[in-house]
Amino acid sequence: MRVWSVANQKGGVGKTTTTVALGCLLAAQGKRVLMLDLDPQGSLGSYFGHSPEVTTRRSFDWFAPSGKLDDSQLDASIHDTDTAQLYLVPGTTALATLERSAVSQDGMGLAVSRALARLWDRFDYVIIDSPPTLGVLLVNALAASEQVVVPVQTEFLAIKGVERMLNTLQMINRSRRQPLPYLLVPTLFDRRTQASVSSFRYLRKTWPDHVWNSAIPVDTRLRDASSRGVTPLALDPTSRGIQAYASLLKTLLKTTPEVAPATGAVAHG
Ligand SMILES: Nc1ncnc2c1ncn2[C@@H]1O[C@H](COP(=O)(O)OP(=O)(O)O)[C@@H](O)[C@H]1O
Ligand SMILES: [Mg+2]
Repeated sequence: MRVWSVANQKGGVGKTTTTVALGCLLAAQGKRVLMLDLDPQGSLGSYFGHSPEVTTRRSFDWFAPSGKLDDSQLDASIHDTDTAQLYLVPGTTALATLERSAVSQDGMGLAVSRALARLWDRFDYVIIDSPPTLGVLLVNALAASEQVVVPVQTEFLAIKGVERMLNTLQMINRSRRQPLPYLLVPTLFDRRTQASVSSFRYLRKTWPDHVWNSAIPVDTRLRDASSRGVTPLALDPTSRGIQAYASLLKTLLKTTPEVAPATGAVAHG
């Protein structure tokens, strides 16, 4: 199992879109994929028709006190989608109540790692859609991951968000044996606008080793797919947006070699 987080402490930058796009592309390659929604806004769950207010089988259940999450409950939290091999654990507003709990309490920061360890043989890839706030949920997402994808909207105000995200990663790295690899992914790129072009250049210049060498373009097909509740691949596999995500996936697969991650091995028993 490979675990990736999609994270940025800014909303509206393409986190949920990136999660769905990578998820459906991996599933189309025959991988068993689980998308985990840890955002209290529950946009990923909503995308697939699960209301964040009323859904009962949900990621919130993963945070039950140690030993209280039984196998049937864990199973029940996993919903299928219309896409073969693509599964989802919806997020709900109840997640917000967890943000107040202390990370240190009861190994609270490892709840997701522990649940994923129990699903180790069932999925090839897990993609976590992270919340935009730094708290127990984001800490859980990053602790469970071996790679972070950071969508960055190509506009002027986006840079501050990147800096905050990098500070968070630095903090997380203090409790990891190896630094968590991350890739900044320019999103909502419109090459006709000065804002997009110059912020793309700024990103590449400032973090040359960590910025993807291409960008996800503004593509209304991605928005259409989300409003219809279908994956962008199901809506239009030829769209520029999904093509760009396919190219991003190639890059990610190259940088995450197929070896068992140390965190997984530890969490397993
Ligand atoms: N590349 C894109 N082109 C056009 N619209 C996009 C693109 N990426 C995201 N969107 C739209 O922008 C909005 C915010 O994206 P979303 O993925 O929900 O961001 P986040 O999860 O970071 O809040 C959504 O309406 C989504 O459909
Ligand atoms: Mg989102």
